[in-house]
Amino acid sequence: MSEPVFDLIVIGSGPGGYTAALRAAQLGMKTACVEKYPVVGGTCLNVGCIPSKALLDSSEHFDLARHGFAQHGIRATVELDLPAMMKRKDGVVRDLTRGVEGLFRRAGIERVEGTGRIARPGLVEVATAGGTRALETRRILVATGSKAAALPGIPFDGRRIVHSTDALALPEVPKRLIVVGAGAIGLELGSVWRRLGAEVLVLEYLGRITPTMDEEGAKLLQRALQRQGMTFRFGVSAKSARVKGGQVLVEVVPAEGGEATVETCDVLLVAVGRRPYTEGLGLAEAGVRTDERGRIEVDAHWSTNVPGIWAIGDVIAGPMLAHKAEEEGIACVERMNGLAGHVAYEAIPNVVYTWPEFASVGLTEQEAKERGHEVAVGAFPFLANGRAKAMGEKDGQVRIVADAKTDRILGAHIVGPRASDLVAELVLAIELGASAEDVARTVHAHPTLPEAVREAALAVAKRALNA
Ligand code: FAD
Ligand code: NAI
Repeated sequence: MSEPVFDLIVIGSGPGGYTAALRAAQLGMKTACVEKYPVVGGTCLNVGCIPSKALLDSSEHFDLARHGFAQHGIRATVELDLPAMMKRKDGVVRDLTRGVEGLFRRAGIERVEGTGRIARPGLVEVATAGGTRALETRRILVATGSKAAALPGIPFDGRRIVHSTDALALPEVPKRLIVVGAGAIGLELGSVWRRLGAEVLVLEYLGRITPTMDEEGAKLLQRALQRQGMTFRFGVSAKSARVKGGQVLVEVVPAEGGEATVETCDVLLVAVGRRPYTEGLGLAEAGVRTDERGRIEVDAHWSTNVPGIWAIGDVIAGPMLAHKAEEEGIACVERMNGLAGHVAYEAIPNVVYTWPEFASVGLTEQEAKERGHEVAVGAFPFLANGRAKAMGEKDGQVRIVADAKTDRILGAHIVGPRASDLVAELVLAIELGASAEDVARTVHAHPTLPEAVREAALAVAKRALNA
């Protein structure tokens, strides 16, 4: 019996791919999603956003019980059960990936297990356990995501020298963990293991943490993490690493050249970014262009240079974030159907889920000035927010960058409790072209953390009330 002809085959079932498949099915397209792993959900659900947040939440509870309860008048003796914590994390992942499988079933999306290769536009060959299937399709959407980048001279061994996937499942708390890279992964997973008892040293090539985010916010977060016991060395890189007697010896070199020093640890986590994942896809043979960093080149509507082949998510340029991949998936499929799908790239929030959290959207003050804006900035500290005070949260601030002439909000940078949730209001403000005064005149419930957002908006016009 011949295979059916699909309207769309999505290769990759991460947040970009599975969301695109769901939207395609909603729009009446006969859709298949090819995934090489036996479970759907991609990096995000299986080895990224979700397991890392599950461990961040669990380790935060542990840390609160050990260090935070006393200020609330609670005495507790706490003990870590790491296998139980890991089991809970695995359960969270399992529930969510099964949820996506259920959504596929209900939407009538065919899930094909195997490695997909573009044989030519209109034909995807899938290497399955039972042999190769050739699937004919009108359109192909590549959503194959990314993989952890390695450093030259430091091969991963999965046990002592690891990337994020292994660092989400260490069998015991390392006595000393060295992290290379002070980006999102380094700080989040460094926080998890620090809270569970590891000594953590972060080695960063540049002079600061989270180099793509607001500088003042980064300083506040760094100070908070240092108070939690995390240590940093800036302007350095790891040149080599070898395992000797159960320890990892890491050769650390200054970024600007000079004498190497040696640091030792039980586990070395390399978190220096991710690279697009295109191996075995047959892109070159199909004539699909990639850029100097191996990312698939697309036009403004996510179409590659080869008609009939589109690409979205981590495998193309832009921030490697799940919600960016999702929005691109939706908009791309809408464009295939003649709709006006669009991604508001200027309003994509970026969150580092440490404690305090660091959330950012839009332009930094510096970027706004570089683009010719006369800038008005309003900031408000959580120290002066009633709810934060009641919670015992003292660190951080909300900072809003607005255009001084029009009052339009250009960016927002929040370090503080639940910054990830607080930033949503300012994402919407930017999306709707709101002014700082719009936010300042919006009624916010009292006493809540979002009142700090309102006060920062008032501070843009230098009329914050509680600071
Ligand atoms: P992916 O999720 O990488 O999915 C691609 C899928 O394609 C994979 O399942 C892969 O197996 C499959 N595939 C690849 N090649 C083939 C092939 N030839 N045939 C069949 N299948 C194939 N982002 C956030 O926004 N928030 C977070 O909190 C966050 N936390 C993270 C934490 C960690 C530890 C990591 C590593 C990443 C995190 N990210 C986070 C980033 C986020 O996971 C990615 O941006 C997101 O998963 C990208 O989605 P995607 O659909 O493009 O690709
Ligand atoms: P990253 O790009 O966020 O940070 C990498 C850091 O490593 C940078 O600070 C960089 O300067 C540094 N670095 C690079 N080479 C180095 C070297 N040789 N020596 C020392 N430092 C070096 O990458 P990360 O943390 O690996 O994350 C990968 C991707 O996953 C990111 O794009 C991120 O957006 C995504 N992610 C998102 C999360 C979130 O949204 N909360 C959480 C985790 C990952």
